[in-house]
Amino acid sequence: MSLSELLEFHETLEEYFDDALTFFGRFHWIYDSPNNEILIRNVLEKIPLEWCSIDPNQIEAYFDSFATPQRYSCEESIPESLKDFARMTRKLSLNIPEFNLKKADDLPIIMKGLSPKKLHEILRLCALVKLFEEEGISGVVDIGCGLGYIDELLEQRTKLKILGIESNEYRTEAATRRTKSVGRVFYRHLIIDGTSECLDSLSKLTENIFEPSTPLCLLGLHACGDLSPTMLKIFDGCASAEACIVVSCCYHRMDNNFPVSQGLKRRDIKISKTFLRIAAQESWEQWRKQNKILQSWNLFFRASLERFIKDFKVTAAKSRRKPLGTKNAGDIENFLRVGVRAYNSDEWEDHFIKWALTQTNFIDKIRILCVIQARIQNIAEHFVLLDRLAYLIEKGYHPRLVRLFDNEISPRSLAIVCSKHSETLANLAKTF
Ligand SMILES: C[S@@+](CC[C@H](N)C(=O)[O-])C[C@H]1O[C@@H](n2cnc3c(N)ncnc32)[C@H](O)[C@@H]1O
Repeated sequence: MSLSELLEFHETLEEYFDDALTFFGRFHWIYDSPNNEILIRNVLEKIPLEWCSIDPNQIEAYFDSFATPQRYSCEESIPESLKDFARMTRKLSLNIPEFNLKKADDLPIIMKGLSPKKLHEILRLCALVKLFEEEGISGVVDIGCGLGYIDELLEQRTKLKILGIESNEYRTEAATRRTKSVGRVFYRHLIIDGTSECLDSLSKLTENIFEPSTPLCLLGLHACGDLSPTMLKIFDGCASAEACIVVSCCYHRMDNNFPVSQGLKRRDIKISKTFLRIAAQESWEQWRKQNKILQSWNLFFRASLERFIKDFKVTAAKSRRKPLGTKNAGDIENFLRVGVRAYNSDEWEDHFIKWALTQTNFIDKIRILCVIQARIQNIAEHFVLLDRLAYLIEKGYHPRLVRLFDNEISPRSLAIVCSKHSETLANLAKTF
């Protein structure tokens, strides 16, 4: 899979970035404000009027048709501006290859306390690491290892020596207690921050655990926030790191690692936390399965509460009261009441409900905003990941982007896979 196949509609990364930034500039209102401030900042008024005259379900079905070969049957009812938006989102969606897992590797395994999601993830990641093992990798450094589930599986299914690194001391100890392997799986506490001191500490740890010149693979399974881009810097700076596999998550938790590529840095881009939060939300496939009414009521509640607090100068602190379930909330009034009772709201609860009920005409527009944000999720995520690919390409490597997990199971399903020298490893990634 070459970069041009990945980009599909663009010749170069530069072209892609230019097009993406034009698109993000045109539709910046989608992500300029935090969602709970959309009523304070009048975001809903920025939705084109002609989009608001369509049923949000219809917009969803129309967007959906872009993911299937079937044409949308009521296309004549969709305004040109929305068609234009949808075509642009299609053009900016990357054509990401699936990682084809051999059936034999998908055999069920018994590991206590694992969710089906985690099981799915570690089985597939393990299968990928095994391919790297066959090509000469003999050690794994699992960065942000948590409780070490992937390490347990790697220990069962490979001959690799494994070092798990974790910033949380409790998890480091818990992972150490969990491992039954003496002499092959190790856990150490270290905060990975990309400084030269951290690189030195990591080098010392790897020198203690692995034989000199052991080719290592850096592994990051749901390496959250800054950890993923930092791992790529470490991959570049650490001589024994021959390969890396990074599945990122929580893009909105990044403090200062976006963008990382010179290609984007020199463009002086302005990307908000909300944009990164959208990149980190559930995939379109998962979003579609949700209860959209509850979702829009929920956002309406948060946004109207924020506006109420500001306009009526009340203070709202989360109360210790047991939250009431919202699943059977019934009507919107009850839903709002359930929500507001999670706060110390005795003095203004009725006032809030009365006022919020005069604002419910915003709910349809909120539903439209939710569909639009869900539609751009993949583009926002692809944009962040392409910046990381660009960083690695600028360093002279040949990274790949692959769909490692089923995105109906794992919202963060994409992995950056990179090898430093080995042609075979690079070609291996090409076959995904
Ligand atoms: C989302 S969890 C994933 C855990 C594990 N990889 C898994 O998939 O089960 C991310 C883990 O990375 C750890 N972490 C976050 N930032 C880190 C850093 N800078 N250095 C080392 N570990 C970090 C967190 O404590 C957490 O355990």
